[in-house]
Amino acid sequence: MTKPSLDQEKIICTCSGTSETKINQLIAKGFDDLDKIASATGASTGCGACDIIILDLLKKDAS
Ligand code: FES
Repeated sequence: MTKPSLDQEKIICTCSGTSETKINQLIAKGFDDLDKIASATGASTGCGACDIIILDLLKKDAS
């Protein structure tokens, strides 16, 4: 029996399939605003529902 992985990727942007891990990796690389993350991943360029979550991750990084 396989346990669900704790590392299972949490998808933040369902439109582009971008995971939280991916966004955090980009933030760590210096992608410090929504536009940069959007152009790198396509996140927030669809329905826009994930904007707030990405902004939140950026805020956490800044604090
Ligand atoms: S969920 Fe990210 S643009 Fe729709």
